[in-house]
Amino acid sequence: MIILGIESSCDETAVALVENGRRILSSEIRSQIEEHKIYGGVVPELASRCHVEALHPLLNSALENAGLSYTDVDAIAVTCGPGLQGALLVGVTAAETLAWLIDRPLIGVNHLEGHIYANFLSFPDQIEFPLLVLLVSGGHTQLLQMDGHGMYQVLGGTRDDAIGEAFDKVARLLGLPYPGGPVIDQLAQSGNPEAFPFPRSMLQEQDFSFSGLKTAVLYTVRKLEQNKQELPIADLCASFQSAAIDTLLEKTLRLIETKNIKQLSVTGGVSANSLLRSRLKTASQAQNFQVFMPPLQLCTDNAAMIAACAWYQWQKKPEDMRFKLQTRPRYPLSQI
Ligand code: KG4
Ligand code: ZN
Repeated sequence: MIILGIESSCDETAVALVENGRRILSSEIRSQIEEHKIYGGVVPELASRCHVEALHPLLNSALENAGLSYTDVDAIAVTCGPGLQGALLVGVTAAETLAWLIDRPLIGVNHLEGHIYANFLSFPDQIEFPLLVLLVSGGHTQLLQMDGHGMYQVLGGTRDDAIGEAFDKVARLLGLPYPGGPVIDQLAQSGNPEAFPFPRSMLQEQDFSFSGLKTAVLYTVRKLEQNKQELPIADLCASFQSAAIDTLLEKTLRLIETKNIKQLSVTGGVSANSLLRSRLKTASQAQNFQVFMPPLQLCTDNAAMIAACAWYQWQKKPEDMRFKLQTRPRYPLSQI
């Protein structure tokens, strides 16, 4: 079964063709970073307009690169939430139209669940249930137990900022470009992670909090500026990153230990972080669990993960959502 996936929930327009949830035939992404950069973050109206412009050319190139035509497509999948309302509407309207035009079923996909399926796409024969999922993106930070396809128990979440949001906000206050995650990751390579003792917010429960860490960086920057000192950007990046990743690891590893978990799946944009990836690899050897992290191109937003997720959804419950699919700007995994 070949599924054409469409993703437009935030600032990436993407189209992909995936066979049976596991073989990527083509995956096209048009990032809007250049358009939003001058504003320091995503401007919703601009995002919608960019999606409108990008979708049609991407549909054409996805089919062309896969060597397929619309008649080869068996279903259309689209992200219906969570995300920016206007941006979601562009993707859902295009998908609905396309589904009618070629007379194929329409499958609505939760973007967060899509991120989780990036690992099923990459490691289809290795992942087993129950599985611990660490979902770390620009808008979400969650620990979940996955008991089967589409079955989630939320074990913990963030009380304030998502971890990707913290990376983006800290980058902004350091005068670095949007999105901040990859830039901080890169600059931290040449910095000292112990230069500034930023707080590790270790709430006793499984919830996260990153706003205190962000404020600590802000106060440190203000103090340095008041003293007319040049900002040691690399050291600030390394120290912030180290504190943020320590917090993630502490809670995740504690759960693995107490629940005797054998497999961990890490997904979402921040799973591209090099420190997180290397520390998890080391921990998995020391604590004897398996860790799955998508290849870098599947960590951040893409449509291949949406098409893959739709395939698993269709296997479980083949429901054509034409005429029924609504956009859901807020769409927690607990409501799936
Ligand atoms: O999953 P994603 O593409 O979009 C959302 O669903 O939110 O994640 C984007 C987030 C941004 O906050 C970006 O700064 C962060 O992922 N990110 C990273 C890295 N690459 C992307 N954060 C830390 N290190 C990275 N290498
Ligand atoms: Zn995402």
